[in-house]
Amino acid sequence: MSEDAGADMLELNFSCPQMARKDAGHRIGQDYEAVSHFTGVVKKAGNLPVMAKMTPNITDMLPVALAAKQGGADAISAINTIRAITDIDIDNYTPLPNIHGQSGITGFSGASVKPIAMRFVSELYNSRALNLPVSAIGGIETWIDVLHFLLLGATTIQVTSAVMRYGYRIVEDMLEGLSDFMLDRNIKSLHEIIGKAAKKLIDPAEFNTRYQVVSVIDEDKCIGCGQCYISCHDAANQAIKFDSETRKASVDEEKCVGCLLCKHICPVWDCVSYKEIDTKVTKHAAVF
Ligand SMILES: Cc1cc2nc3c(=O)[nH]c(=O)nc-3n(C[C@H](O)[C@H](O)[C@H](O)COP(=O)(O)O)c2cc1C
Repeated sequence: MSEDAGADMLELNFSCPQMARKDAGHRIGQDYEAVSHFTGVVKKAGNLPVMAKMTPNITDMLPVALAAKQGGADAISAINTIRAITDIDIDNYTPLPNIHGQSGITGFSGASVKPIAMRFVSELYNSRALNLPVSAIGGIETWIDVLHFLLLGATTIQVTSAVMRYGYRIVEDMLEGLSDFMLDRNIKSLHEIIGKAAKKLIDPAEFNTRYQVVSVIDEDKCIGCGQCYISCHDAANQAIKFDSETRKASVDEEKCVGCLLCKHICPVWDCVSYKEIDTKVTKHAAVF
C-alpha cells in the first residue's frame, strides 16, 4: 500500500517507547530475531528500500542494527525517544502526563537527547561490520546540529520535536546555515565532511596521557565571584586559592589536575584558559 501511495522508502519503527502490547515498539527493538524477521518480511513484501529505526533504550545498539542488516535493511536510523519520567505534579504526587490520576514512562525527545543520539550515530557509522547509511534523529534544531550529525557520519537528517515547536520553516534555516558554512569553507559537497568527527573517536584507554593541562586564571578578567573556588574546593581538587582581600582567584598548579571545572562554571567566558604540560619535560607550555 505504501508503495502504491508513492513512498520512496519505508522506515520501520522498532522503537516506540510506549506500546499497549508487550511484543511491540521498543521491545521489538531489543529483540534481535524479531528485528531481523520483521525487516525481512517487509523487504520481501515490496520493492522499496527499508530503513530500520533503532531504540536508544538499550546499552549497545549495534547488535540490533546488525540484525536489521541481516534481515535486509538498506539503512539504519537512530534514535527514537528515550524512556523517561520528565516531571511530577507535587500537589497530587502524579508523574506527568496525568492520565486520570495515573501516569506512565514515556518518550523523551528534543535538544537534551542530542548528546545521546550523537553517541549512537557515531557508533553505527564507525562499525565496519554494519557499513550501512545512517539517518540521524534526536534533538536536531539548528544547522549546527545538522552539521554535528553529518560530521558523525549521518547521510540524512530527521527532525521531529523541533518541527513540532517551530514548524517546517526551520528546515530553511538549516539549509541556509549549512550552505553559508560550505561557501565559507569552500566545501563543494557534504560528502567531503561526512564522518570526519566520527573517525577521531578512539577508546579513552588509548588517549595520550603524557600531556596534562592546568587552569590559568586571568586576574584582570576575574570579577571575584568566587564560583571557581567553591566548585574546585567542594567538587574537585582544592587547587584554587581565593584572596578575600583582593577577591581574586588563582591556581595552585601543583594541585590542579586539569579537570577544567573552573573554566566551565566561570561566568566570564574568557577569564579561565588552560596550558598544556608535558609531564615528562616541563611545567610550562602554550596557553590555550
Ligand atoms: C510526540 C511524538 C510522537 C512520535 N511518534 C513517533 C512515531 O509515530 N513513529 C516513530 O518512529 N517515531 C516517533 N517519534 C520519535 C521521533 O520521530 C524521534 O525519533 C524522536 O523524537 C527524537 O527526535 P527529536 O528530538 O527530533 O524529536 C515521536 C516523537 C514525539 C515527540
